[in-house]
Amino acid sequence: NRKNLLDQLAHTHTLAFEDFIDLLAHQDEELQAYAAGLAVKTTQCYYGNKVFSRGLIEFTNICQNNCYYCGIRASNENVQRYRLSDEQILQCAATGYELGFRTFVLQGGEDPYYTDDRICHLVQQLKYKHPDCAITLSIGEKSPESYKRYRQAGAERYLLRHETATPAHYHKLHPPSMSAENRYGCLRTLKALGFQTGAGFMVGSPWQTSEDLARDLIFLHELQPEMVGIGPFIPAAGTPFAQQPAGTLDQTLFLLSLIRLLLPEVLLPATTALGTIDPRGREKGILAGANVVMPNLSPRNVRAKYQLYDNKICTGEEAAECIVCLTKRMKSVGRELAVDRGDNVRYMKMK
Ligand code: 5AD
Ligand code: FES
Repeated sequence: NRKNLLDQLAHTHTLAFEDFIDLLAHQDEELQAYAAGLAVKTTQCYYGNKVFSRGLIEFTNICQNNCYYCGIRASNENVQRYRLSDEQILQCAATGYELGFRTFVLQGGEDPYYTDDRICHLVQQLKYKHPDCAITLSIGEKSPESYKRYRQAGAERYLLRHETATPAHYHKLHPPSMSAENRYGCLRTLKALGFQTGAGFMVGSPWQTSEDLARDLIFLHELQPEMVGIGPFIPAAGTPFAQQPAGTLDQTLFLLSLIRLLLPEVLLPATTALGTIDPRGREKGILAGANVVMPNLSPRNVRAKYQLYDNKICTGEEAAECIVCLTKRMKSVGRELAVDRGDNVRYMKMK
């Protein structure tokens, strides 16, 4: 009967709120395997055996915000803060380009040093040097005017996880200076400006219920993002949530499958957090319906400083090593690591 719900989701790409709750509250091994089977079939139908790679450049760990879960929150005094110079960022991208990357994700804390002028200048330089590459920004909540300027500068994608679609839950994860409404508004603005937009949330964040997760799925259905980033919550030292339990591998895998069925064409990464809670987490993510991996291109000497959560993987490896490693890992689950831009297929049809 719950398998029927999954079949229905696979065909209609939506379910009633109550049905999502029912699935989420009764996850077991059999249901999870069934969802994964449908999800992989759906992924292969759109993307074949390809897994896309995006080169992640973590260019600043300075952040003005104080999200209770995040290791680089402003009040965490145990973090050594850094900013990469434009030259360093361009060097990361050049190295990444040599390695075959055609998408660069610039991710950072909400660092006031990076004014709109600086961000736009950076995007323009990257676009000038690598006109065949897609630039993704992941730099938090900004005004509609700022987002518009980034778009005009040439950025075509933006990642901003909504974190939770339940406002009351949002306010348990963030200080009063932040608001759920502003966050959701940012995502609507990004979509309206024509960004390929990524939303997402943590699985197993403190106080999260099946109802909250069901609302996350309904939210995704309404927003229709091109990308969705999810990963397990992992406690981070020096944060108010340092003693909270981590999210589980299996719940994250089940949600990856549900999201694949909900948004069949979505670009869905098997995240670093998933690889952190299980040594084969990313491979398992692919086998649950994910189709993107995001290896790190940041210089090795800053990697350990970008710790959103404890025990993050790949803090000692060079970009090239991660590529070799990921290529093997993807091969081990019958997939091929693709180095091209990997646009959402819906977007490709439009061009
Ligand atoms: N565990 C897992 N994910 C985290 N993020 C931030 N802190 C943590 C943590 N402790 C996620 C958030 C954010 C993204 C960049 O990383 O969802 O949007
Ligand atoms: Fe970085 Fe495996 S992907 S070491």
